[in-house]
Parts: sequence; C-alpha cells; structure tokens
Amino acid sequence: MSRPSTIATWNRNPAEEDAMGAAHAPIWRRMVDVSVPHDIRQATILDYGCNQGGFLRLLHDRRPFKSAIGIDIARESVARAELLKGQRPIDYRLGDSAAALGHSFDFAFSHEVIYLLPDVSAHARDIRAALSAGGAYVAAMGCHTDSAVWPRWRSLIAESSSIPIYDHSLEEVSKAFTDEGFAVSARPLALDAFMPVTVGSAYFPKVADQLRYYTTDKVLFRFVRKP
Ligand SMILES: C[S@@+](CC[C@H](N)C(=O)[O-])C[C@H]1O[C@@H](n2cnc3c(N)ncnc32)[C@H](O)[C@@H]1O
Repeated sequence: MSRPSTIATWNRNPAEEDAMGAAHAPIWRRMVDVSVPHDIRQATILDYGCNQGGFLRLLHDRRPFKSAIGIDIARESVARAELLKGQRPIDYRLGDSAAALGHSFDFAFSHEVIYLLPDVSAHARDIRAALSAGGAYVAAMGCHTDSAVWPRWRSLIAESSSIPIYDHSLEEVSKAFTDEGFAVSARPLALDAFMPVTVGSAYFPKVADQLRYYTTDKVLFRFVRKP
C-alpha cells in the first residue's frame, strides 16, 4: 500500500485552521439533522477529510454511534483531532484512502472535501469499497462550479489552501457516483441558522450572496451504494 502524501495543515495559516471548526458547526448540525437516522447506535461511520475531527464529535454528541474513523492528510489536524476526542469511540488517522482502512462502514460523510480531489470517479470507487451494500455517503458541497460565488471563492481559497483546488460541477459529481454504482440524490443544505454577517466580506460581497449560498448553492449529496 502506498503511503499518502501528507501536509502539516490544510490551511496555510494554522490559526485559521483552528477557527474552521467553530465556523462549520452550524452546517454540521444541519447535515446531521437532515441526513442521519434517529438511532445509529449500532452503526459504524467514516468521515473523509475530517480535519480536527469536529464533525464526528458533534455527530456522536447528537446521535451516539458504535464507532467511527476520521481520515485526513493533514498531520497536525489529525493529531489535534485525537487530542480532542475525549472518551468518544473515534479513531482519527492520517490517510487519503477509505478502502485502505479495511472496514465496511454503514455511513460515510464529507464536508467540503470533493473540490480538493482531482478525480471524483476514483473517490467514488474508494468510498464504494469502504461502504456496506445499502450504505450511504453524505457529502456536503458548496465549492462547485454551479455556485454563484465560486469564481470569487476559487481564488480566495487558493490563497489559503496548501493543496490544489479543482473545478467540479454538480453534474460531474452526480455522473461519477452514478457510474460507480450509487443511487444519487441531492437536496439544498437550506441552513436553518443565523449566520454571522460581515459587511464587505470577501467571500460574500452582498448579504444576499450569503443568504443564497447557505440556502441553495450549498448542497448535500446522498450516494447510496447499490449491491
Ligand atoms: C475545507 S477542509 C474541510 C474539513 C472538515 N471536513 C470540516 O468540515 O471542517 C478540507 C479537508 O480535506 C482534507 N483533504 C484534502 N484532500 C484529502 C484527501 N485526498 N484525503 C483526505 N483528506 C483530504 C484537507 O486536509 C482538509 O482537512
């Protein structure tokens, strides 16, 4: 098995990496509320691109699960995730391959990772190999070419990301997962939280951009593995 090429942190600025979890928490909460069954106490879970591990901690606190693994290529972020996990049944590991974990998961999740992957079909094959038949992969994606703010975001994120960024459309992602043997469905995130407004923000020049992004541009895919 080849070793993944790793990075120290995903964001070139470690302080911004530390701040990312708090900014994403309302979105993770929404993902859980709209996509996770009420009782997952017997389920095993994968978080692909877990960074400092906040999604799985939040998921376990809201819907306790049997066990979970989070993988990421960012060494310092994975180390921090391990420190922060407390007594929760979670294992955070350095890696870029779900299949290489050698587990069969009931659910997989990713939040804003697919646009950092050059080959969506290869990712779909990797997730398929790691999911049980009928298992579901829920992937949140606001960074795609059909988002109205993407041209602006692409250059902003490129300044902070320590790895390349890719232009994937919602069609391209849907086709890749369909072709690799998944039933594909999608819904808007339709965030139900008050989000902080920064007037003149580089990411959201207008407040209306922010409202549209969290309502419709940012989507949740659900990919269910066919037998
Ligand atoms: C925008 S961050 C999102 C992190 C986290 N999911 C969250 O919601 O805060 C993208 C993460 O994906 C990770 N990542 C990028 N490419 C990866 C790969 N090939 N395998 C695993 N993780 C990867 C990065 O290191 C980074 O932690």
